[in-house]
Amino acid sequence: MTRIAIYPGSFDPVTRGHEDIIRRSLRFVDRLVVAAAAQPTKKPLFSVEERIELLQTVLKGVAGVEIRSFDGLLANFADTVGAEIVVRGLRAVSDFEYEFQMALMNRKLKHELETVFLVPALHLTFLSSSLVREVAGFGGDVSELVDPAVDAALRVKLGG
Ligand code: PNS
Repeated sequence: MTRIAIYPGSFDPVTRGHEDIIRRSLRFVDRLVVAAAAQPTKKPLFSVEERIELLQTVLKGVAGVEIRSFDGLLANFADTVGAEIVVRGLRAVSDFEYEFQMALMNRKLKHELETVFLVPALHLTFLSSSLVREVAGFGGDVSELVDPAVDAALRVKLGG
């Protein structure tokens, strides 16, 4: 049986933290669909096409990964790609409430959908796309927190 999981997010932009969760997921799934929400709750800095392109660059050559964008409900998209597992990274207690709500809502929408939480490497637990955007926006150095392609894209976008 092929085990398919979906790793959804805004990926605005993809960080080393996301990369870490993707690599950890590939230890126990056969195929991981990295799914970028076309319309995330907050207005994104990067368009969905840009976010997908950055994911493709960063994950080039990583076997078992498929990169897609999705519109609408995650539970429906999980059906479309045949995924029964949702992977989410859990960095801190502050993430928990939102993640817990989301996992239960997704289960309500699609009963067989199991959410699996993965803990990132310790040195990446403080990292989020929003912090990366903020620091880069003020001209701070994020080169250790994102792939060089993402660093370059941030400079172009933010004029750094
Ligand atoms: O990286 P993020 O912003 O924390 O990702 C949130 C995301 C995109 C996974 C979540 O907002 C989502 O699944 N959106 C799709 C719409 C949906 O299904 N909403 C109900 C989930 S409870």
